[in-house]
Amino acid sequence: MRMALPVLPYRNPETLGHIEEIPEILKKENVRKPLIITDSNLSALGAADHLKRVLRQAKVDFAFYDGAFPNPTTKLAGQTTRYYTENQCDGLIAYGGGSPMDLAKAVGVCLARPGKPLEKMAGILKVRRKLPLLIAIPTTAGTGSETTLAAVLVNEEDRHKFSINDFPLIPRYAVLDAETIHTLPPGIASTTGLDALTHAVEAYIGRCTTRGTRADAEKAVALIFANLDKAVRHESREAEAAMLQASHYAGRAFTRSYVGYVHALSHSLSGKYNLPHGWTNAVLLPIVLKRYGSAAWKKLARLAACAGIGKPGDSEETLAKALIAAIEEKNRAYGIPDYIEKIREEDIPSLARYAHREANPLYPVPVLWDAKELEEIYRDVSKNE
Ligand SMILES: [Fe+2]
Repeated sequence: MRMALPVLPYRNPETLGHIEEIPEILKKENVRKPLIITDSNLSALGAADHLKRVLRQAKVDFAFYDGAFPNPTTKLAGQTTRYYTENQCDGLIAYGGGSPMDLAKAVGVCLARPGKPLEKMAGILKVRRKLPLLIAIPTTAGTGSETTLAAVLVNEEDRHKFSINDFPLIPRYAVLDAETIHTLPPGIASTTGLDALTHAVEAYIGRCTTRGTRADAEKAVALIFANLDKAVRHESREAEAAMLQASHYAGRAFTRSYVGYVHALSHSLSGKYNLPHGWTNAVLLPIVLKRYGSAAWKKLARLAACAGIGKPGDSEETLAKALIAAIEEKNRAYGIPDYIEKIREEDIPSLARYAHREANPLYPVPVLWDAKELEEIYRDVSKNE
């Protein structure tokens, strides 16, 4: 199945450059009353006001739900679905980072498969029904969730994080409007940008790539190294637009070619301790890349060249290590530590078990590790040295 996935008929969402184009799309798709899903932080900042204004001006009726929170749960998905039906909505607009998108996809799944528990659809190709129209507006660059077939959720009962992966979850439209990321706090701009970098790197060094996903990952890495610092400091609108594009390319790459152990280890951690996804990935990325050792050098060397790192004649080993060092340098510059204090020794075996179950055999990682080796990584990451 894993080997077949890159050649399955993926579709890309149709991309729009401006929020102002949404009323026209709703009309075209015969959606009368969409539900906007966002989170309370964005809502408090008035971030979705522009979207609401655009809809009101076009006389589009809509409902508004700002209850999304990081690591959305199955219970929240149920509540939001009830809100959708009570308000007689007929389409979804996800506005935000990964959490509102995951939640909107989960609501779409609940509507498509009423009565079937979400955790029963964990894994791949278990939804198999059409979802209502979903328009995704990313406000971070980012998760790439506006182009992926995955919804990541936390089971309310046991805090286990799982993902539902199926083609109907790919949003029909993605609005890449750089205005939406212009006011991102630096801490979020940097960690979400490093999440996008992790998508591109993990997809690229895995053993399940296509020419298309390699090209997308290379473009993403080049754009991220050229623009992330400027976008974090909001120095240029071009850099912000480039980061949205980079995140989109990285999303296209990993939804077809998968991620690797960074994401598996990270999902387990952020589910257990409620840590932000981009932040845990950023901490883990250089640590995992070093552990892959020579198996990943060749591909990392190519990505180093895309990032403009190294010089002609450098060996693959030198280039790969220079890329990892450049990632560590970025982490330091953004104040991201090289350890995670919250990890408790007694939790490590179950964290590793979940990470192992997520990664194997689905993720086409460059080096295969068992749960015991994943425990060692958690132990390394828990130490402040
Ligand atoms: Fe991610």
